[in-house]
Amino acid sequence: MDFRWDIIVEYAPFFLKGTLLTIGLSIASILIGTVLGLLIGLGKIMRNKFLAIPFSVYIAFFRGTPMLVQILLVHFAVVPLFLGETNGILAAIITLSLNSAAYIAEIFRAGIQSIDKGQMEAARSLGMNHVQAMRYVILPQAFKRMIPPLGNEFVVLIKESSLASLIAAPELMYWGRAMQGQYFRVWEPYLTAAVIYLVLTLTCSFLLSRLERRLATE
Ligand code: ARG
Repeated sequence: MDFRWDIIVEYAPFFLKGTLLTIGLSIASILIGTVLGLLIGLGKIMRNKFLAIPFSVYIAFFRGTPMLVQILLVHFAVVPLFLGETNGILAAIITLSLNSAAYIAEIFRAGIQSIDKGQMEAARSLGMNHVQAMRYVILPQAFKRMIPPLGNEFVVLIKESSLASLIAAPELMYWGRAMQGQYFRVWEPYLTAAVIYLVLTLTCSFLLSRLERRLATE
């Protein structure tokens, strides 16, 4: 089997552009997803179980349906409904953010619920009200425990953003598919894409494990 390095070189600028968009999609989505996820997570653990229902439904929907379905729905139905036209990049950011918000909400809830009940009782017995105890005692400890799973979520988003290639958002995988279409070659585009994704995710995991070690020794 011959391996055409020349077409990889030819496509290098496109892969570079695509990689930048992949990184951009992932960063935008983890940021939006974290903010939304915190709100949704808080909503789900509200003491009023009736008000918590919509949040549980949201989480169930986004975790219980394939992201492929979600991204197609958002791209072809939701975005055109509001904009009157499709927009691949926008649809990708919306879908990745909404999807990851559901997972982050659970990370957040698990983080809070992992803090021993005695911490809340101790804070309350010192005269803090519920909000103060949350703010000064529970959340700081919970956030520390949330960092590793949040980092994981970012790695997942880098990989899942490849679904955006199906709605013509010109990220990394999109250029891989374009290259296959132009040259009818499969090894070169997909191996190149795989190697780039691997570099991105391994770099991320490496930085995360360093951060975790730093936090662990504090
Ligand atoms: N491939 C999964 C799906 O189709 C996406 C899961 C997203 N996971 C996440 N942690 N954001 O549903």
